[in-house]
Amino acid sequence: MAVAADVVVAGGGVIGTAIAWRAALAGLDVVLVDPDVGDAASAVAAGMLAPVSEALFGEGALLAINLLAVQRFPSFAAELEDVTGHEVGLRREGTLAVAYDAGDLAALRRLTDFRRSAGLDAEELDRRACRGLEPFLTPDVHGGVVFAGDWSVDNRRYATALRVAMAAAKVRISRGRVTQARVAGGRVRGVGLADGTVIDSAAVVVAAGCWSGTVAGLPDPLRAAVRPVKGQLLRLRHPGRMPPVISHTIRATVRGADVYLVPRADGEVIVGATSEERGPDRTVTAGAVHDLLRDAMSVLPVTSELILAETCAGLRPGTPDNGPIVGGCGIDGLLLATGHYRNGILMSPVTADAIVAALTGHGAAAQWEPFTPQRFTAEQAGAGRSPAGDRAR
Ligand code: GLY
Repeated sequence: MAVAADVVVAGGGVIGTAIAWRAALAGLDVVLVDPDVGDAASAVAAGMLAPVSEALFGEGALLAINLLAVQRFPSFAAELEDVTGHEVGLRREGTLAVAYDAGDLAALRRLTDFRRSAGLDAEELDRRACRGLEPFLTPDVHGGVVFAGDWSVDNRRYATALRVAMAAAKVRISRGRVTQARVAGGRVRGVGLADGTVIDSAAVVVAAGCWSGTVAGLPDPLRAAVRPVKGQLLRLRHPGRMPPVISHTIRATVRGADVYLVPRADGEVIVGATSEERGPDRTVTAGAVHDLLRDAMSVLPVTSELILAETCAGLRPGTPDNGPIVGGCGIDGLLLATGHYRNGILMSPVTADAIVAALTGHGAAAQWEPFTPQRFTAEQAGAGRSPAGDRAR
C-alpha cells in the first residue's frame, strides 16, 4: 500500500506530536507514525520545566536552549489549552532545592554559585525558611535554594492535549514502525514501515526518542548517537483526607543522592528518578523503589502516608554531550528531533518551532546552533567540530 504526505513524523511522544501539530497548522499535510502513540518516555516523565535547577557545570549551551524553552512554554501551553479545552497542569510555584546534611549543603552551594555566575536567580534559604515554604519538610534539612523560574507541567495531561490538538489539525496517524528513511539522489523520498507499507513524502522527521537510531537511511554517526538511559519513578496518590503535602517542586540531595518530588493539582506526587545505563530494559526494580522512597521520606517524612499508586520505568534518549539533536542531517528533507535526554517535555515547544521553521524554509533560533546533527557527522569527517557540551565548557 502506498500513502503520500508532505511530511512524515516518525515518533508519537511529545516531541513528535508537537511537531506534527505545528506542521499541520503551518499548512502541511502530515502523517505521524508510531505503533504506540503516547506510550513512551513522555508518559513516564515528571514534567519538570527546570532549566536552572538541572543546569550542570560545563553545560552552558544546553542551559541557553533550556532557558529559551521555558520562556516559550506558557504561550504554547495556553494555545494548546485553548484549542483542545484540555488543561495541561502548568504550575509556576517554582522549585525548592534542599540539602539534607552538611555535605549536601556544600554541594548545593557550589552548584548555586555556578548558576549565579551564569546570571541565574537563586535565593538561598536557611532551614526555617525552607520549612516556611514547605511545612512538611523534615526539621533536619540543612538549607535550600529557591529557583523561582523552574516550573512543572502534568506530562500526561500535556501529552493527551497534544494528541487531541494533532487530531483536530487533521494529522493522520499510522500505527506502524518506521524502519527506513528512503533516500535517493541525495534527498529523502519517504519512509518504509516494518509491515512493508511505503509512505512517499518530501520531508521526514525522525523523532523516535531512544529508538531513533533504528531508522535505516540516517547517517551512521547519528544512528549511533542516541542511547536509552533508564529512569524509574513513582507516582504517589493522596488518600484524600490530607491537605496537599507540597506546593513547590522539591529537589533534594540526600547523603549525596538526588531525588525530586513534583506535585500535581490533585495531590499526586511524582518521585524520581534513577539514571541507569541498562540498554532498553524497562523493568522496575525493588532496589530503585526502595532508594527513591527512602530518600523522599528522609526529606519529607509524610511521604510514607501516601498511596504508592504506580511504579514505572522509561527510556530517556541520551546523547554523548547530553544535548538534543535537532535539524537537517545533510540529506535533503531528512530531519532529526531527538536526543532530548532529561528535557523532552520542556523542549517540545521550541523543538516544534525549530523543525517547522526548517520545513517551511525559515531559520531556527540562534540557541539551536550548537545542537545540529552536523556536530556528529562533521566529527566523523574530521572537520573538527566538537560536541555541544565541550564547546560550552
Ligand atoms: N528531567 C528529569 C529526569 O530526567 O529525571
